[in-house]
Amino acid sequence: MINAQNIAEVNEKFQTMEPRAILLEIFSVYPQAATSFSGAEDVALVVMAKKLNPAVRVFTLDTGRLHPETYRFIDDVRQKYTLDLEFLYPDTQAVQALTREKGLFSFYQDGHEQCCAIRKTEPLRRKLAGEHAWITGQRRDQSPTRTNVPVAQLDTAFAAPGRSLLKFNPFANWRSKDVWDYIRMFDLPYNALHDRGYVSIGCEPCTKAIGPNQHEREGRWWWEEATAKECGLHKLPG
Ligand code: ADX
Ligand code: SF4
Repeated sequence: MINAQNIAEVNEKFQTMEPRAILLEIFSVYPQAATSFSGAEDVALVVMAKKLNPAVRVFTLDTGRLHPETYRFIDDVRQKYTLDLEFLYPDTQAVQALTREKGLFSFYQDGHEQCCAIRKTEPLRRKLAGEHAWITGQRRDQSPTRTNVPVAQLDTAFAAPGRSLLKFNPFANWRSKDVWDYIRMFDLPYNALHDRGYVSIGCEPCTKAIGPNQHEREGRWWWEEATAKECGLHKLPG
């Protein structure tokens, strides 16, 4: 059993396990767990999850600002693996109010928080209000803000009042190389941007290719401080 009461022990146990074994345990208790897909190298998570749980429920946050390559890739993966994939959209009125007041690129002036809150965090909150568990492709090596990401945790940021929500990061212990070894070994499709210097991929206006020896996070919200580079999906203690 995995539940809100024993999540700390479960996390302890998961620390030394491989993603596949972790996912198997998660799906044995939460076959309905909502699995997130950003359209980047987390394709490894989605394909692994689909193999282990053919009925896996996958969702993606369509911010309206993804690269054309990412849209193509997400839909290619959807078709190739016959994924039960749900696209989540921001609230129309909120987007209209933001763009009416500040235009399409306000984040370059006053930071990404407001736009991310509307296009990512609010739709995710709506989605997770009805879930017991969700799964992400987060890793510790992805960002200075993620060095303590646990494999299993209570998600107090997105739990609806009166219910608990579990969050699983089965790739937390894997490094970028492990993910790419998996992608190559199983010949998985990947986002075309990866062959053009893009490593971490988010929205088009907020993502750029990086050069040799740059940390992958330097290609995201590059005009902001490294410690501020979270969009709100993963702002949790620990
Ligand atoms: S972000 O918070 O900075 O955008 P990042 O791109 O590193 O996140 O991706 C880490 C994990 O967050 C992904 O593997 C996925 O689980 C989740 N995620 C990020 N963006 C999306 C998205 N657009 N839709 C669904 N999940 C996402
Ligand atoms: Fe808006 Fe950029 Fe955040 Fe995407 S990453 S929601 S475009 S601020």
